[in-house]
Amino acid sequence: MIMAKKLSTQNSFPPIQKPTYYITTPIYYPSGKWHLGHSYTTVCCDALARFKRMSGFDVYYLTGTDEHGQKIEERAAAAGLEPKAFVDGLVGEIKVLWKLLGISNDGFIRTTDENHKAAIQRIFTTLYEKGDIYKSKYKGRYCTPCESFWTASQLKEGDKCPDCGRDTVEAEEDCYFFRLSKYREPLLKLLTESDFLQPASRVNEMVNNFLAEEGMLEDLAVSRTSFRWGIPVPFDDGHIVYVWVDALSNYITALGYGSDDDALFQKYWPADLQMMAKEIVRFHSIIWPALLMGLGVPLPKKVYGHGWLLFSGGKMSKSVGNVVDPFILCNRYGVDAVRYYLLREISFGQDCDYATENLLTRCNTDLCNDLGNLVKRTTAMARQYFGGKVTKSAKDVGTEFDAALIEKINALHSEVSAKLEKLEISRSLETLFDLVSSANKYIDLTKPWALFKETKNEERKTKNDGGDAVEKTLNAVLYNLLEAIRVSANMLLPFIQNAPAKIFASLGLPVPDDFSAMKYGAIDTYQTTESEVLFARLDVKKELEELELLTNNEKRITNNVGGDGDKEPNAKSSPEPRTPNPESRGKERSDNNMITIDEFAKLELKTAVVTACEKVEKADKLLKLTLDVGGQMRTVVSGIAASYAPADLIGRQVVLVCNLQPAKLRGIESQGMILCAVDENDKPVIVEPGRAVPSGSTVR
Ligand code: MSP
Repeated sequence: MIMAKKLSTQNSFPPIQKPTYYITTPIYYPSGKWHLGHSYTTVCCDALARFKRMSGFDVYYLTGTDEHGQKIEERAAAAGLEPKAFVDGLVGEIKVLWKLLGISNDGFIRTTDENHKAAIQRIFTTLYEKGDIYKSKYKGRYCTPCESFWTASQLKEGDKCPDCGRDTVEAEEDCYFFRLSKYREPLLKLLTESDFLQPASRVNEMVNNFLAEEGMLEDLAVSRTSFRWGIPVPFDDGHIVYVWVDALSNYITALGYGSDDDALFQKYWPADLQMMAKEIVRFHSIIWPALLMGLGVPLPKKVYGHGWLLFSGGKMSKSVGNVVDPFILCNRYGVDAVRYYLLREISFGQDCDYATENLLTRCNTDLCNDLGNLVKRTTAMARQYFGGKVTKSAKDVGTEFDAALIEKINALHSEVSAKLEKLEISRSLETLFDLVSSANKYIDLTKPWALFKETKNEERKTKNDGGDAVEKTLNAVLYNLLEAIRVSANMLLPFIQNAPAKIFASLGLPVPDDFSAMKYGAIDTYQTTESEVLFARLDVKKELEELELLTNNEKRITNNVGGDGDKEPNAKSSPEPRTPNPESRGKERSDNNMITIDEFAKLELKTAVVTACEKVEKADKLLKLTLDVGGQMRTVVSGIAASYAPADLIGRQVVLVCNLQPAKLRGIESQGMILCAVDENDKPVIVEPGRAVPSGSTVR
């Protein structure tokens, strides 16, 4: 009976539904090395997703990879691999990168996922049956790297692609077309009469170039016959669905649209924010809404085209060879530093010149000097003056400087939130660090060390106030500082996670998962411990020199295998076979089984990151590992299945013997060997560096 009553009470109060928030990054081409540009969009979306989650939204954050198309087919062929094997390695790598960068995505779609492929075929068929897709002949120019058809009027001088400026090729073939022209007017209305596309500066560009006049928007070729690596048109053999139809639809197929289970689609669509850089705004603000209009699916609420991270004046891109490796930066300076730099340095929406020097300087000024020192100084004083215990003060106790600081503490959440809602990401961090600076200034103004000295002042004690009033003031000053630190760390959580977690630990508090305690005075008593150093001071000149060496070293590794790491990221490498020379070995080796230093030097040992791992079929002891050795991919079969499940190894650093003669194990070519210790039960334990070092680092 009691049970029944309980149940009925529960039923009458259904759980409160949180509002939903769906945010997406573009899905990235696995065609070369992942660089800081890809990390930029993903980190920005991550900060927004985390902010929304902490603000009480039920968030779905989607990212993924765009794996089909001629470009990938060609790159895989150049690397001597099947397209799927080629992309698998790079997809494994990007997943490791997102893990390293603390990306909190809820979904990861690969366009090679079976359910995505089936949904694309349904979408194509639906549009065909509705008459929005029809068959005809295509004659014109095609840009292979951009996978785009262009009309004569759209081409740049010399028949160059208007997007990337590269040569286009003549193309003529039977083709399916999407009636894009039919949607010119609704698109014009959408772009000019709503906030669909942002920032507003992008609207003019789209309207002037593609929509302004009748006849400007032509029907779009949506099938290809010149390559095979893609999703077949279900009712016409030989035709492959145009990669941009395949790719754009990921935003709904990832939620189950076009499948038997579309619960996520029903829950989260339409997307609240679709983010990308400016070069693909045309696809997202013209083709994408037109496809959705054709399908009768509601449109996303906002499409935002941010600027580029520029390197030496140009867009950072694989083909230009100016890639900055986020693995190296994260391993060397920590994830917080890289995330903070990306979110703070770039005025969101604008282009920004990348300079490692600026990253290091930001680290030294904002993170180390301002935040790190504030926390270090305050917790050290709390320990020294009060054994770490600091309590909330009565209202009338304190200094003339308190009101201004408290006002800033109380305003922080609303000010930062307002900026984030407007996608002013960098400015929101500026506001946050303004509080940090104010707290540092407050220390200089209130001089807690002088107050402490006064409490110890013998003369005062004999005057019979025992230093109590001063002690209360000192307590109030430290309380105010701890409140400023706590509220700042809480607000920092969407942006960076490691330093705030350490801060909360030293404040003796759990890490909050929302913004419910953002007001001054939420804590009655602090029991703090002295904070460890949050950010080490970097010697900018020395770091720049070392990074240069590392980058050159990486280039050397890549050049050694006959590719530039861009064109052939997954190229099968045959490690230099060791040339055994038993005679000389006999001569050099001394009798007691020792080897000479020269013999040891023949071993090429390097650190590597496990990017993918799976069991080897019908072999209980074997795992197949995909390793990233400083940008070079290797496959290694290792007998460590008794000690590790594949998932345990992803993202771990191992030590690889790179120049071991390749050997076939269960039909798989193993290109090296990872080092393991053997434990007391004779089980292998992988050897890992004591701290993360760039993958591909020499072990000696
Ligand atoms: N696969 C398409 C997108 C399909 S979405 C349906 C594609 N992929 S990409 O790998 O080239 O990624 C492009 C996106 O990566 C940019 O739009 C941007 O989000 C991010 N960036 C890549 N390089 C960048 C910079 N240098 N600067 C800023 N963002 C950059 O296009």
